[in-house]
Amino acid sequence: MRHKAKHRGPVITMMWNTALDVRTRVAVGAGARTKLSSTLAQLNAGKRVLVLCQASTAVHWLRDVLENLPGEDFKVTTLEVPDGDACKTTDWLIRVWEHLQERGFDRHDSIVALGGGSVSDLAGFAASTYLRGLNLVIVPTTLLAQVDAAIGGKTGINLPAGKNLAGTYYFPKAVLADQEMLSTVPRKQVMGAIGEILKYALIEETVAKTTDYDMGPTSLLEVLDKVIQDGFDLEDPAISGLITSCIKMKLYIVSKDPRETNLRRILNLGHTVAHALEKVGDFKLGHGEAVGIGITQTMKLSVSKKLIDKAATERVKDILFRAELPHDLPKGINKDELITAMAQDKKRHGENIKLVLPQTKLGVVDYEVSFPIADLSKLLNSKD
Ligand SMILES: NC(=O)c1ccc[n+]([C@@H]2O[C@H](COP(=O)([O-])OP(=O)(O)OC[C@H]3O[C@@H](n4cnc5c(N)ncnc54)[C@H](O)[C@@H]3O)[C@@H](O)[C@H]2O)c1
Repeated sequence: MRHKAKHRGPVITMMWNTALDVRTRVAVGAGARTKLSSTLAQLNAGKRVLVLCQASTAVHWLRDVLENLPGEDFKVTTLEVPDGDACKTTDWLIRVWEHLQERGFDRHDSIVALGGGSVSDLAGFAASTYLRGLNLVIVPTTLLAQVDAAIGGKTGINLPAGKNLAGTYYFPKAVLADQEMLSTVPRKQVMGAIGEILKYALIEETVAKTTDYDMGPTSLLEVLDKVIQDGFDLEDPAISGLITSCIKMKLYIVSKDPRETNLRRILNLGHTVAHALEKVGDFKLGHGEAVGIGITQTMKLSVSKKLIDKAATERVKDILFRAELPHDLPKGINKDELITAMAQDKKRHGENIKLVLPQTKLGVVDYEVSFPIADLSKLLNSKD
């Protein structure tokens, strides 16, 4: 199946000294996927390439991607893993290792993750552990993966006890974020990623102050507001700009703090509530939806502490509303269970939890607020 936008803008390529001694090539824009073969050639990678995909990405994009890996240059095999998080298991990790071993992959060879965050998390874990490290190239096919999961070097699988409990830090050698590939993603899922994009918009000024990230003349919040107003048309070149800003912001943050000892915590805005909501709600809420709710709950706390005025929360709610995303806790949610889940957050430090709180104006946050676990109910019960 072929999908090509009517008007392709330029593909922007950035080279990034990510962190942990890895240089990552990041290409963003309609048609970025066609750079796969030249990217692998520039990496001086071996001939063997494993393309990991899921049924939904295989049906729409596998042929297209394989056409970019000519047989005379590459020895390509593919492995289709179960849909969504069902692939992030120890069983499937072992199957990937076995696939690599049976086909004689060596350390110069590559894994290409063709899919959303679930595939790139599994592929990254497998690439980081097999022979202590193969080349990893990510072709993220969901908006969430393009703005977040494919960037930043966190890999992971789930264990029966919880999500992402086993993982590594392992940076991809290249990321090819092609917005044309989003054309086959269900609309609700595309819009869900707006929760994460909103997060970037709400930390942008602090990131610009703390790193070399350049905000440019128009803030991400204004661009986001405008593209939602215009119907969030995936062929709108402004969406490519939006994706690029999020990717750049994350790269700047992660380059400074790859292992989340300080600045990287800024990316957790809204996430303490979001992760708890996902857990208590049995993952029926999409991640981006949960992040949107988490952001508004956290902002209510900022308002009650007089760190920001109420109009700021109203603007955020309005953006979420227009993106058809929820901003309130789901009706009937058990707040006690939610608080218990929040108290188990990975960001817990003894009796306190680190929170990221918007302050003064949208775009500015304090990412080092220590909040008493005992007061977590205040976070959910703050009046707006
Ligand atoms: N490593 C990180 O930093 C990080 C960050 C955020 C999220 N994650 C992880 O990412 C996962 C969620 O990622 P996601 O939101 O991309 O969802 P996903 O990978 O589960 O994909 C969602 C669904 O969309 C399908 N799909 C993907 N691309 C498609 C396309 N182009 N056309 C049609 N269907 C397509 C998938 O097969 C799947 O059914 C979670 O496992 C989460 O833990 C990781």
